[in-house]
Amino acid sequence: MNGLKMKNKICIIGLGYVGLPLATSLANNNHVVGVDISKKRIENLKKGYDQNQEISKKSILNKNLKFYENEDLKNNNFDIFIITVPTPVNKIKKPDLSALINACKFVSKFFKKKNLLIIESTVSPGTTENICKKIISNYSKIKNNDIQICFSPERINPGDKKNTLNKINKVISGNSKAAIKKAYTIYKKIVKKVFIADNIKSAEISKIFENAQRDVNISLMNELLKICELYNIDYNEVLRICSTKWNFSYFKPGLVGGHCVPVDPYYLLEDLKKKKFKSQIIKNSRDYNEKFVKFIAEKIIVLTKKIKNKKILFCGINFKNNVLDTRNSKYFDLYKILKMKNKITLYQKNITNLQNYNIYIFGSYNLKTNYLINKIRKGKNKKIVISLFNDLKLKNTNNLEYLRI
Ligand SMILES: NC(=O)c1ccc[n+]([C@@H]2O[C@H](COP(=O)([O-])OP(=O)(O)OC[C@H]3O[C@@H](n4cnc5c(N)ncnc54)[C@H](O)[C@@H]3O)[C@@H](O)[C@H]2O)c1
Repeated sequence: MNGLKMKNKICIIGLGYVGLPLATSLANNNHVVGVDISKKRIENLKKGYDQNQEISKKSILNKNLKFYENEDLKNNNFDIFIITVPTPVNKIKKPDLSALINACKFVSKFFKKKNLLIIESTVSPGTTENICKKIISNYSKIKNNDIQICFSPERINPGDKKNTLNKINKVISGNSKAAIKKAYTIYKKIVKKVFIADNIKSAEISKIFENAQRDVNISLMNELLKICELYNIDYNEVLRICSTKWNFSYFKPGLVGGHCVPVDPYYLLEDLKKKKFKSQIIKNSRDYNEKFVKFIAEKIIVLTKKIKNKKILFCGINFKNNVLDTRNSKYFDLYKILKMKNKITLYQKNITNLQNYNIYIFGSYNLKTNYLINKIRKGKNKKIVISLFNDLKLKNTNNLEYLRI
């Protein structure tokens, strides 16, 4: 497919973990305007600073990239709009589409015939055409059939330095050949390979299903952990043995947090309810993983029963290793559960006396973890160190008992 223009003018709405890497990457071949409702985020980006620590100053300060708060952009004539705003769930685990709806209303102010809107936020099947396209049509007064729209799921994995945006296969789906052609033109320059899906709904479900599959697999491993306890054996050893088989899928047990795996399945489950379909596998796995944190909390209580006058230091509450993101972190939930009945402190930079504790719990891992462990190890006080689902390996000493979950 040939490019329509050398340089498109692209507006990206929502500059978080997904939107910013996309904006900096597209700015190498296009004029890009990034918009966000967060004043602080825009102020930081104008100075070249990404508070998520994913993107370098040099990439942010690209001369083809401009940042705005949701202010009047009327003087800009855009070709393409890309929405990358959050699609979370509320307290009762129902999809919250408010950011997506607001972003579509915002786009409708500038959207013209022959423009293209791409949705990258994760959505339930049907949302791109039945909600996003309708909002654009209602507010911009452009006929529904004249709106070019695509859904292109995002697969970026923050904290992962190997599977970066330029190395992934990008799926695109659209409501017309023209829409797909435009999307293809911009993405093919920034990703490894573009895969064109037959229809939008399949692409929407595929995104949720990738994460539902992880959720289901992790729930199975969480059950393995419980089963191994019954036999008094280490689940790590069972997994090590299983992985010698060619078709064993390697997953580890864990506390499922973040804004994708423990969120996306609810988008599908909610839609399935409307179709009167009772999910058994996806629903039960989700519930199982949600409850797993209580099981781990109880396990920690049992493991530390012998310590009188417990003083616990909890290190690493980010939802996974090497990210700053704490959204839906189950390590944080674990900390809160333990706090109900224990004296527990959350590790922060200003804590200097690391020897004041007798139980240390390590959740997610980061660059600081080894430094902390070395300090703790040197202390003469008797202590238990518990590491949760990470690859820390410590030796027992006279003062230190190391336990791994
Ligand atoms: N983070 C990931 O690893 C990841 C991976 C794949 C897919 N996704 C999906 O991508 C979408 C974005 O996720 P994220 O992690 O980048 O979220 P994020 O919270 O990091 O960033 C979203 C940004 O959008 C801004 N925003 C909210 N409402 C807005 C509005 N109406 N107008 C303009 N800006 C607005 C916020 O201020 C924020 O800066 C979600 O649907 C998520 O499920 C995320």
